[in-house]
Amino acid sequence: MFRTHTCNQLGAKHQGEEVTLSGWVHRRRDHGGLIFIDLRDRWGLTQIVFDPDTNADMHDAAHALRNEYVIQVTGRVRHRPEGQENPNLETGAIEVEGQRLSILNTAKTPPFDINKETPVDETIRLRYRYLDLRRERMQRNIVLRHNVVRYIRNFLADEDFIEIETPILFKTTPEGARDYLVPSRVHPGQFYALPQSPQQLKQLLMIAGYDRYFQIARCFRDEDQRGDRQPEFTQLDLEMSFTDQKDVLDIIERMMIGLVETHVSNKKLMRKPFPRLGYDDVMNRYGRDNPDIRFGLELSDISPIVANSEFKVFSGTVAAGGIVKGINAKGLGNYSRKQIDGLTDFVKEFGAKGLAWLVVDPPAVSAPITDTVRGIAGRSSFAKFLSIDEVNAIISRLEGEQGDLLLFVADKGDVANESLGRLRLELGDRLGLRDDNTLAFCWIIDFPFLLWNEEENRWDPCHHLFTAPMDEDIPLLDADPGKARGKQHDLVLNGYEIAGGSIRIHQRYLQEKIFGLIGLDMEEAKERFGHMLEAFEYGTPPHGGIAPGIDRLVMLLAGEPNIREVIAFPKSQAAIDLMAGAPTEVSESQLKDLHIKLR
Ligand code: AMO
Ligand code: AMP
Repeated sequence: MFRTHTCNQLGAKHQGEEVTLSGWVHRRRDHGGLIFIDLRDRWGLTQIVFDPDTNADMHDAAHALRNEYVIQVTGRVRHRPEGQENPNLETGAIEVEGQRLSILNTAKTPPFDINKETPVDETIRLRYRYLDLRRERMQRNIVLRHNVVRYIRNFLADEDFIEIETPILFKTTPEGARDYLVPSRVHPGQFYALPQSPQQLKQLLMIAGYDRYFQIARCFRDEDQRGDRQPEFTQLDLEMSFTDQKDVLDIIERMMIGLVETHVSNKKLMRKPFPRLGYDDVMNRYGRDNPDIRFGLELSDISPIVANSEFKVFSGTVAAGGIVKGINAKGLGNYSRKQIDGLTDFVKEFGAKGLAWLVVDPPAVSAPITDTVRGIAGRSSFAKFLSIDEVNAIISRLEGEQGDLLLFVADKGDVANESLGRLRLELGDRLGLRDDNTLAFCWIIDFPFLLWNEEENRWDPCHHLFTAPMDEDIPLLDADPGKARGKQHDLVLNGYEIAGGSIRIHQRYLQEKIFGLIGLDMEEAKERFGHMLEAFEYGTPPHGGIAPGIDRLVMLLAGEPNIREVIAFPKSQAAIDLMAGAPTEVSESQLKDLHIKLR
């Protein structure tokens, strides 16, 4: 028997009992004769004392202990002396007087402190992930993740969902990324694709009659890595039959609210029910479809005001079909030229050609026309080119007040939105408006059905191939495809897309039509998705679903800056497993088996 208790179990009521504990040496302190060991396991810490007066041999043996040694200790539980209790520790009222000690294993000095939250280079953390996982922060996150998944499983089971596993070796399931391919040994020249999501399989399950399916599903996407992306990640994948969008949203919303209210005591929901916002509305106001609605600083379109102005940067942009949008950087009117130039460089990273600016000064609004314009010209990069009416209209459109800094980008709509949307987040950070303890969920609906792909000169699905267009917009698919809206829904939390889903197409003719619209010829469509088209003809119920990303959700609930912090064994930014060293080269004979020749 290795232990009678865990390291987080003993308290005053165990006074006098003989106990055995096993764990890691978290910390050793030598205090004038007494040696104190904090013994650690997954559950917590217990203080062990070795006293030279009561047990000289044991005390000597304890001298040999080093951090991270694995030991077993038997001894008697006793109250800590008056004043020595540690209220921050569950076991802080007691200590164990060490009487027998076995060293189960020694440990080299770890490359970083396990017992302190000192910053450590991430490369080293990932290289020694098994040590990093011993640290409190990772433990907290991994346990939270477990609790989140357990909550989800219980919640959905109670709602009559059933969990079904689907294959990893499958066929391409496009979600907009590249596939990871697995060569087949038995079928030379043929490949499985790892699923980017179980999208097709869950739809086939609906056709099979397994209404209300879910799965904690691993997904694989070969795409550029970011803080909120991993090559393999986990979704709560969910699908329902005979459902409309409202049912899907309602169930996920109830699940999220229950989750936060039962498992995230240190954060509060900003609003419930969650706001349901239209895509056009959020693009106008926030410049992006994953808005952080914890704060205001919304974007304003001033195109109508400046369309005929003398300032060619503005009027020329509008004439060319672009827009001029602005944001009010509240109270930043005291920014220096250098700081404003910094903001200009910031928006340029996102494609903007420049950043026009104006500091609001009340005399500018009220003084005689020419003086006023001249008066503010020194405090603006463009006001001197505008009329007083135009300047006033801009200030009032952005609700500018004394001391505000108004910032503008003139460009094509998507560039203006992207650059100002990013700038808004940056300003939110600088102004301390993105409160870590607030969880601001919102739904985005009324998405466009298709998005124009400039590079490829064709339409792409805004969500994925299987999303249904709005019924009333089906005629638009022929007349004006860009205007059609889709039955897509995204859930956004604090500026991150944490779930995406839709009501699906469930008729073959419509699915074929969509394949055609996005430029997939029928041969290729049949080759890739023939099984779906065929299945649609055997009594397919109307269905729809959604997939929250578990990694992103847990990241935000844990207050972590990236999803690597909530994944036990993540890949690095360069998609490498730094611990095991993957990917690697493989042997000639393996390649030969797989009928692969490297160039
Ligand atoms: P979508 O592609 O929007 O939808 O993905 C759903 C959610 O999965 C998360 N996610 C990721 N998380 C970490 N790393 C990644 N590389 C990554 N990519 C996506 C996000 C995202 O919101 N089959 C559809 C769902 C459906 O229609 O039901 C799908 O996969 O949180
Ligand atoms: P210029 O006339 O090029 O000196 O520009 C005058 C001001 O307009 C400067 O503050 C530029 O940063 C800004 N500017 C230039 N192009 C744009 C643009 N496309 N959108 C917003 N501001 C711009």
